[in-house]
Amino acid sequence: MDLINQIIARAKADKQRIVLPEGTEVRTLKAADRLIADGVAEIILLGDPARIKQLAADMNLVNISNAAIIDPKEGEKKQEYARLLHELRKNKGLSLEQAEVLVENPLYWACLMIKNGDADGEIAGAENTTGDVLRPALQIIKTSPGISVVSGAFLMFVENNQYVPNGILVFADCAVTPNPTASQLGEIAVASAQTAQALVGEEPRVAMLSFSTKGSAKDPMVDKVVEATRIAKELAPGLNIDGELQADAALVPSVGNQKAPGSAVAGKANVLVFPTLEAGNIGYKLVQRLAGAEAVGPILQGMAAPVNDLSRGCSVDDIYKMVAIAANQAIGAKKKN
Ligand code: ACO
Repeated sequence: MDLINQIIARAKADKQRIVLPEGTEVRTLKAADRLIADGVAEIILLGDPARIKQLAADMNLVNISNAAIIDPKEGEKKQEYARLLHELRKNKGLSLEQAEVLVENPLYWACLMIKNGDADGEIAGAENTTGDVLRPALQIIKTSPGISVVSGAFLMFVENNQYVPNGILVFADCAVTPNPTASQLGEIAVASAQTAQALVGEEPRVAMLSFSTKGSAKDPMVDKVVEATRIAKELAPGLNIDGELQADAALVPSVGNQKAPGSAVAGKANVLVFPTLEAGNIGYKLVQRLAGAEAVGPILQGMAAPVNDLSRGCSVDDIYKMVAIAANQAIGAKKKN
């Protein structure tokens, strides 16, 4: 897990402000305490301050005293954020009165903090569903310029496997867009390659997965992957990308050579792009549970600022790592701008 240590070191070297809207959630508080102690990020906790302080005292989490704690029900920026939310969503029919109620929801407050420049990134999902975490982010923070679709990647740490020489694969989309169009899938492929470059530091070799390799099967679902591959190549001409490929053709050199001879990706892919969310979500969970891979994510790609979701089964360690990853994404985004 050298890569995670590098990510943590980068976060420590340029501390970002990360907001944790689930401030009264026990694993979140434990992770916050360690993150503050280790100097990984400046932590902002949302929730009732008295309850947060009581929980921290009960668990002897002494570093929580160094977190900023904000209660969205009575934070001093409540009116400012309500006006901002109203401004952003009035064309969707949101009234100021409705915005005043919505800002009390910590998941909305966190996104408004980021939009207003008061925080650099957000991690949530230990007690909220993916949909509830993502909706305010999609409505308020929105996508990066030139990107129309948000997707979720996992870093899959697969140790001692002959088909994964450096031990890491990137899987996407495993979290957000249920049934992407060909053009959305093309964008997801480019975003996944960028995630691999930014976080893994390796030259991406992107496989567009299907149940067919190079025309072995005919179906509209295969056509979609072929078209997505074409679009991704158009969007990123320098990218090593190939499809459509079956998973074995993507990962196993002998199968890749046989089914897709001459491909720069087949048999040596390190980024796997799944044709639908169904395939991606099932795929990552199978590899995690059956192959014992460590799955770090979902890391949201394509959002204008980092918001990362957690699985509700997450551990304290998962939250800690996702905060460090969000900090790296924020550092990267600031450099880009
Ligand atoms: N990329 C960019 N923008 C998007 C996307 C996307 N993938 N999806 C929705 N939006 C935008 C819409 O354009 C809309 O913007 P607007 O209101 O400004 O016009 C806004 O987000 C809300 O869109 P809706 O369609 O109204 O939102 P919806 O209720 O459908 O929610 C969501 C979108 C939450 C992403 C939904 O598609 C979803 O729940 N996806 C699956 C999430 C999930 O359950 N994943 C599996 C579990 S994760 C895991 O196991 C780790």
